[in-house]
Amino acid sequence: MKAVIPAAGLGVRFLPLTKEQPKEMLPVVDRPAIHWVVEEAVAAGATDLLIVTGREKRAIEDYFDASPKWDAVLRNNHDVRAYRELEELSSKAHVHFVRQKEPRGLGDAVLQAEMHVGREPFLVTLGDTINVANPPVAKQLWDAYERLHHPVVAVEEVRDAKVSDYGIIKPGKAVDDRTLEVADLVEKPALADAPSRLGISGTYVLTPSIFDAIRATPPGRNGEVQLTDALRVLRRTEPMYAYRFSGRRYDIGTKMDWFRAHVELTLQDQEYREGATAFLKELLGHA
Ligand code: G1P
Repeated sequence: MKAVIPAAGLGVRFLPLTKEQPKEMLPVVDRPAIHWVVEEAVAAGATDLLIVTGREKRAIEDYFDASPKWDAVLRNNHDVRAYRELEELSSKAHVHFVRQKEPRGLGDAVLQAEMHVGREPFLVTLGDTINVANPPVAKQLWDAYERLHHPVVAVEEVRDAKVSDYGIIKPGKAVDDRTLEVADLVEKPALADAPSRLGISGTYVLTPSIFDAIRATPPGRNGEVQLTDALRVLRRTEPMYAYRFSGRRYDIGTKMDWFRAHVELTLQDQEYREGATAFLKELLGHA
């Protein structure tokens, strides 16, 4: 399976943390956010990953590259688990990079993957979205694609106050408990104009037909070519589905979700669970 990971966004909301480093490199527990994203894609079966970066994202490329310096240090009996797991990841999947020349939107970022993807369906998972789920959300979505053979977008119910932060789908007929036909989609509508509360959460399985649709999509919100708008163009000629995934999803582009992901993933880690639980109880006065 091929996976495309857009990671070219600027990270304005995280300034000054993102002044000198990409937001995808912000730490979550003991590894950068993008490590979790790649881990999920690989757990879902991806063996070929293309990360779409932009200017000032060099740190991401270096992170997935071999490091003779650290290899030499670690050879002398240090076992650093997250580092070892990074090496295991690199042995399971090839990680490639392409640059988006200018920040022209998520649709344009996905278009950069055209040559790499070729004629196969592919997974898209945003570089700043961490899902905590079993099976991985990417796997749930891929399985849905294998049943449906048309593009599938992961969705979840979003609060009224958050509707205008998301692409929102207009649901069509239900296929089963979790799967719905998509009748239409709209990028970041005002609450009053939203066709539902089902927000696009950042994991997609797309087919190469999306590339022509992106090319046919004029710039939308913020003057950028939006993936949601391109999906809307594609929806005119091809069926499309939404999948209500099971699990929790964190948008590492927002500080509160970043914080929440840190807490949940710390509590899920065997090594930190006990100490972190005791500390939180003490802090909250429940000890
Ligand atoms: C992007 C998409 C939006 C989607 C969201 C999920 O927006 O354009 O449709 O709902 O990701 O996080 P962004 O968060 O990059 O503004």
